[in-house]
Amino acid sequence: MERDVIIALDFATREDTLNFLDKFQDEKPFVKIGMEIFYGEGPEIVRAIKERGHKIFLDLKLHDIPNTVKKAMRNVARLDVDMVNLHAAGGSEMMKYALEGLTEGSKGKRPILIAVTQLTSTSQEAMNNELGISGTVEDCVRSYAKLAQTSGLDGVVCSPLEAGYVRETCGDDFVTVTPGIRFADSAKDDQVRITTPLKARTIGSHYIVVGRPITQAEDPVEAYRRCVREFVEGKE
Ligand code: C5P
Repeated sequence: MERDVIIALDFATREDTLNFLDKFQDEKPFVKIGMEIFYGEGPEIVRAIKERGHKIFLDLKLHDIPNTVKKAMRNVARLDVDMVNLHAAGGSEMMKYALEGLTEGSKGKRPILIAVTQLTSTSQEAMNNELGISGTVEDCVRSYAKLAQTSGLDGVVCSPLEAGYVRETCGDDFVTVTPGIRFADSAKDDQVRITTPLKARTIGSHYIVVGRPITQAEDPVEAYRRCVREFVEGKE
């Protein structure tokens, strides 16, 4: 099973992002580019980071009518990234179209396509009363994961604590990408449902997405190495 640590590059500018990456001289971490920097700097930031040899998860969470998502994914594929995502709430037709667009647009290997189940910022109450979805968040994560799988997707983004349910529902090979990671001895920030890199390994995540515990660390390279030691190598 492939396992890797993905650093969330939640910086406001290209300069801050590239300065941060300059700290990594001996390794080329897998990185996540989100909406903030993508909308601020455009696709050029993806190319700049790609040129430096990093694997990229482009976290744009697409959600629109199937045809629009298909065409958008065709263009996203041209950026030659390694992982992209959309919202499972867009439904199976949208997910199938997205996969088609991504496959058509990819010159080489198609990026891994994963679905967001329920955002970790959505409470059970908001899901039931505002989004009109009944049942528990766990029920919803399970059924969205199954829907993503039957639509041909490779996996889902979910909280590390939900990765276990997803494995039960979709099997060990269905990819789980989990944010909400904190070291046992560090601040939680605004994350609520969290776990350590080592625990995420035990639960069975394939990829962990780590932002502030690395980006705000006094020594980001050492913090990244600690994540790799715990999550990839299984050492305390
Ligand atoms: O700094 P921190 O480790 O909390 O960053 C986690 C990253 O994962 C951020 O980029 C955040 O947007 C993202 N994320 C999350 N929860 C989700 C989906 C994405 O924390 N459900």
